[in-house]
Amino acid sequence: MKILVVGSGGREHALAWKLARSSNVSKVFCAPGNAGTARVGENAAVSIADHAALIAFARSRKIDLAVIGPDDALAAGMVDAFQAAGLRAFGPTATAARLESSKSFAKDFMRRHGIPAAVSREFTDSGEAHRYCQGAEYPLVVKADGLALGKGVVIARVPEEASLAIYRSMDAGAFGEAGRRVVIEEFLEGVECSIHALVDGAGYALFPDCRDHKQACDGGTGPNTGGMGAISPSGSVDAALEARIRKEILDRFIVGARADGLDFRGMLFPGLMLTADGPKVLEFNCRWGDPETQVLVRRLESDLAGLLDACIDGTLASREIAWDPRAAACVVLASGGYPGAYKKGEPIRGIDRAEAHRDVVVFHAGTAESSDGLVTNGGRVLGVTALGETLTAAREAAYAAADEIHFANLHRRNDIGAAL
Ligand code: AMP
Ligand code: GLY
Repeated sequence: MKILVVGSGGREHALAWKLARSSNVSKVFCAPGNAGTARVGENAAVSIADHAALIAFARSRKIDLAVIGPDDALAAGMVDAFQAAGLRAFGPTATAARLESSKSFAKDFMRRHGIPAAVSREFTDSGEAHRYCQGAEYPLVVKADGLALGKGVVIARVPEEASLAIYRSMDAGAFGEAGRRVVIEEFLEGVECSIHALVDGAGYALFPDCRDHKQACDGGTGPNTGGMGAISPSGSVDAALEARIRKEILDRFIVGARADGLDFRGMLFPGLMLTADGPKVLEFNCRWGDPETQVLVRRLESDLAGLLDACIDGTLASREIAWDPRAAACVVLASGGYPGAYKKGEPIRGIDRAEAHRDVVVFHAGTAESSDGLVTNGGRVLGVTALGETLTAAREAAYAAADEIHFANLHRRNDIGAAL
């Protein structure tokens, strides 16, 4: 079968890499892709905003399955557009993806179906939101309702910070329409954990747990980013906690979606806070996490194309999924300045040396080929992934390989997978 992966990040390279290893996949295209996806398949210079052009491309290349990576493409209805054109696509429809693209929609869903989450209130009137913050307990969390490139969440320690966040989002329109409504919720304490489950409309297949490292700098300091590195397993989920995550979150999700007539088919990725009261959902993502996908595909032994097909067809229950019992770690190499302004076009050296290390694969995110060879082309540039018998072995192997790679102003965290 021929597959089109839509997107251009580390997640898409990781998915394309894994799909290209499927025995029944003859070719993987990626639109628009990056220099890494061009190494496992063929890139198509089509914008992900242009549904008609993507559909025309998929038809011309006789694509059997399109795999849609990014949240904004899913929220914009790319899966609906492919389906309307009679093409097969993996990912939730725009209606189902509202669980990610509207936090108030997700909060309402969780409240009605008994899924544990932070206590919250929604506001469409900024005056009311400002007044509410004056009498609230701190810290509290102010969230833009819609997709805001990971910048829509502010943890406010004092009323002035909450007011500023409300002003920026609701009054000044910093996130456009996405921020005209805000969710204000209690601050949860605990450790975070990323859960992934393929949902096929009727049931789900739970993947191993992961931990992302969202802040830019060591020790969890600095601004929030898309994710500076990941490990799997997280080391925080034992059998009893996994049973609780199934029962209180995923089982209730399936029952709730059915009750609401929400046909969710795709990857469900709840971000959890593991609190003293048990696991609570911080947000539902309706897609694969990045960098989480980079560690998950390294541990997945089963055929990914077959799993995605089964998810679309509602036949996941008949599938066994095999996982490498070893741990995986991913260290992201970013452009200095990310998540703020950074330079592009810096030559990259040493990927071949890094990949010569045992059990190491380097996934590309912001890379491009130029007349100078491979150069940086984004904030997150590469994800160096390694497997190891233990988490310590995996993280040491990832760092040893990452030490081989150089570009100007390279920034990375040195504590990915270190003890919390
Ligand atoms: P979200 O996009 O909702 O996952 O939020 C981004 C990040 O903000 C999360 O990964 C957490 O680190 C933090 N966060 C969000 N909501 C809360 C909360 N209620 N309590 C504590 N931290 C939170
Ligand atoms: N790494 C977090 C995310 O993909 O949202």
